[in-house]
Amino acid sequence: MDDDVNNKEMEVANLELWESHAKWWQDNFSEGADPEYEEQILPIVSNWAKGHRSVLEVGTGEGQVLRRILTTTPSSVEIAVGVDPSQAQVEVAKVRSESMEVLRASAPRLPFASGSFDLVVACLVFEHILEVEEAISEVARVLKMSGTFILLLNHPLLQTPGSGWIDDHILMEQYWRIGEYLKEDVSIEEVQKDIFIPFVHRPLSRYINLLVQNGLYVEEMLEPSPPEGFLAKAWEYEEAASIPRLLAMRTTKKRG
Ligand SMILES: C[S@@+](CC[C@H](N)C(=O)[O-])C[C@H]1O[C@@H](n2cnc3c(N)ncnc32)[C@H](O)[C@@H]1O
Repeated sequence: MDDDVNNKEMEVANLELWESHAKWWQDNFSEGADPEYEEQILPIVSNWAKGHRSVLEVGTGEGQVLRRILTTTPSSVEIAVGVDPSQAQVEVAKVRSESMEVLRASAPRLPFASGSFDLVVACLVFEHILEVEEAISEVARVLKMSGTFILLLNHPLLQTPGSGWIDDHILMEQYWRIGEYLKEDVSIEEVQKDIFIPFVHRPLSRYINLLVQNGLYVEEMLEPSPPEGFLAKAWEYEEAASIPRLLAMRTTKKRG
């Protein structure tokens, strides 16, 4: 089978998994359920989003990131649009906020004219997208010149598949093992019993180089320590505060 056919089939399978687990995501990660969103992710994005007027969120899910941007910067945001390929996510996003437009669309094919937005946000989405080259090129296309692209990822180095705490009972040590960082890979992870989520791992350089090739330059990058609410759940690991789970980048479009 050639790579394109293979990729298409995997993309369909990935989207079906997101469709069937949308409610699990909504119940566990939105509306205040998740300390990492509440204490870290939403504050970072809303801070960086200040002053922008037209905002697109790619892979908006049930819309919590856009809702936070809208309530934090009510005076500057005039247009807020969220897209997600999952019908189950789009339906809930529409119910939870009437102040934004929500459409069904996939990142590699954005249904907007070039230069439509001055801010694009993608929060914990690109690690679920197979066609990363097309997706980043689409983000750059729909951004105005000097516009901002905010990209948040599960930390590509420290959260590589196969990473995790090791309790070494012989050496009486705890340490963080890093999985196969350089291997670009698609995996289906059982994140909870019977909940299977597709993850695409790629090294950080792959993201940075694609951003730069599309005229998007990093202005600021954060690798924050997990927030208190998460650390309270990781009490058995003394070093948990030194292993970031999130990577956040604020980039600017400087070339067309
Ligand atoms: C981890 S959730 C994040 C949702 C939202 N950005 C948030 O932070 O609350 C990932 C979302 O990515 C969406 N997704 C998966 N594949 C996608 C694609 N090809 N294009 C756009 N979104 C996609 C899923 O449907 C899901 O809603």
